Order: sequence, then C-alpha cells, then structure tokens
Amino acid sequence: MISKVPTDALPYPLKRNALASTRLNYNHFWWTKISGYLLHPSIPTTLPNLRIADVGAGTGIWIHELSAALPHATFDAIDISSAQFPPEAIRPANISWWTHNAFEPFPEAYQGRFDVVNARAWKCILNDDVADRVFGHIISLLKPGGYLQWFEPVPESAHVKAPEGFGPTPACDKLVGQWKKPLPTSSYDWINDLPGTFKRNGLDVEVVEKHRTPDHFQPVGAQTVLMGIGEYLHSDASMAVYQEALSEEHARGAFVDLTWTCVVGRKPGA
Ligand SMILES: C[S@@+](CC[C@H](N)C(=O)[O-])C[C@H]1O[C@@H](n2cnc3c(N)ncnc32)[C@H](O)[C@@H]1O
Repeated sequence: MISKVPTDALPYPLKRNALASTRLNYNHFWWTKISGYLLHPSIPTTLPNLRIADVGAGTGIWIHELSAALPHATFDAIDISSAQFPPEAIRPANISWWTHNAFEPFPEAYQGRFDVVNARAWKCILNDDVADRVFGHIISLLKPGGYLQWFEPVPESAHVKAPEGFGPTPACDKLVGQWKKPLPTSSYDWINDLPGTFKRNGLDVEVVEKHRTPDHFQPVGAQTVLMGIGEYLHSDASMAVYQEALSEEHARGAFVDLTWTCVVGRKPGA
C-alpha cells in the first residue's frame, strides 16, 4: 500500500562519502560492461552543437567518460547534491556541473535545450506516486526530437540463482524481497513497465533492451550490493549479521540475479 504522504519527501537512503562514490563508480563499470555502451548506439552523436544532460549524475562518471569520447559536444551534469562531483581540478571544460532537485521544474533557461538526456539508477529515489512528475520535468529538458535514455534494474525480475541442491538461501531470499519492495512506501510499476512510463509521458519508444549479468560478474554485483547495505539508511542493528550471511551464501555460489533495462525514447515534434 502506498503512503498517503507523497514519497518525494523521503530522505536519500544512501551515503555520499568516498565509499559511496566507490560503489557508484564500481557499478558504472559493471553496467557499461554488461550493456556495452555509454549511450545507446541508435542515438545520433554527430550533430555539431550536440548538448547532453545527465540527471542525478552522482559522481559524474558516466558524463565524464562520455565527454572524453565526444569532445565536440557540451554537457550538463545535474544532481540534487554536488557532494560526489569530481574535484574541480579534473573537470573538463565541456561539462557544466550544477545542482537541482528534479522533483521541482527545471529553470526555463534549460527547458527544450538538450538533444539527449540520460538518467540511471533512480530506483532508490522514485516511487510510482511521484514518477510521472519527475519524468515530466526531465522530459522538459529535451528539444523536440531529443532522446531520453534510462537505465534501471527491474525490481520484479529479482530471483535467487543457486546451484542445484544448494539448500535454503534465507539471506538471498531477504535480498530478493528488498529489491522488490525495500520499504512499505516503495512501488516500482514505473520501472517494471519502463516503456509504458515513457509512453504515458508522451515519448515515442525507440529501444527496449534487457541486460543480464553473466556468472563471471555475479560476484561484482553482489559486492556492490553488500556495500550498499552497509550505507543504507534503513539498515538496522542486524545489518552486519545479514551482510555476513549474504557473503557466506555468495561464497558457496548463491546470488541474487536480476535484469537491467535500458529504454530509449524520443520526444515527438522534430
Ligand atoms: C544511485 S545514485 C546514481 C548516480 C548516477 N546516475 C549513476 O548511475 O552513477 C542516485 C543519484 O541521484 C541523486 N538524486 C537524489 N534525489 C535527487 C533529486 N530529487 N533530484 C536530482 N538528483 C537526485 C543522488 O544525489 C545520487 O547522486
């Protein structure tokens, strides 16, 4: 059941310290390795004045890497907090870094200005009650004909993957439950049907991809989740015992597997 209080007032449930940045950067290399791209190859990148935004940019690793590959383009890295942005000394000249709360409309000066907008890993922030509002704000950044790329884990796909005859997996079972509904207020229909969310918000869906983690990267996915549990705002005193039990199940070959999706949509009207 969804709380009657809109979930846009919930605190960010993860930390923004150096270890949290390590986790985000580690995720980045895992996710780009399983998808094979930063920007989906169907999105054109040769426009002379190409302008690209990343909303909820975190450490900026995605946009920073893309800016090196597309030196002719200009970029905006936007997040509610600048705490994880890279040091000014290493920021490239073609990226502007600024803060904005995406639950609020973007300033008019930025609306309709971007050829491409990227969003990734919003699951811990967005629930169904507020998703369309944030989509509306993010889509407002696009020019007519502009592209929105969104990359997320699909909560309902979470399941335990264990060798035949493994026996009970109580810690992995608990983690599956947390992927699906970590809090009573969590509701993820907006991700479980991400193409539907794009269409409902007026975008033409161009690409729907599903990416899986091969066995050789299961430990990578498991390790980043273990780090996240250590930071998670809603972890209780039993967190260390849970982390230990999960690690022990992972060491014997049981993991929580899930699908990652990348959806690309286009704003009509070009
Ligand atoms: C899980 S991190 C993902 C970071 C990045 N997109 C990535 O994939 O590496 C979520 C990011 O969203 C930011 N965020 C949280 N609430 C936000 C809001 N209301 N508006 C904009 N950014 C927000 C957080 O500060 C954090 O950097």
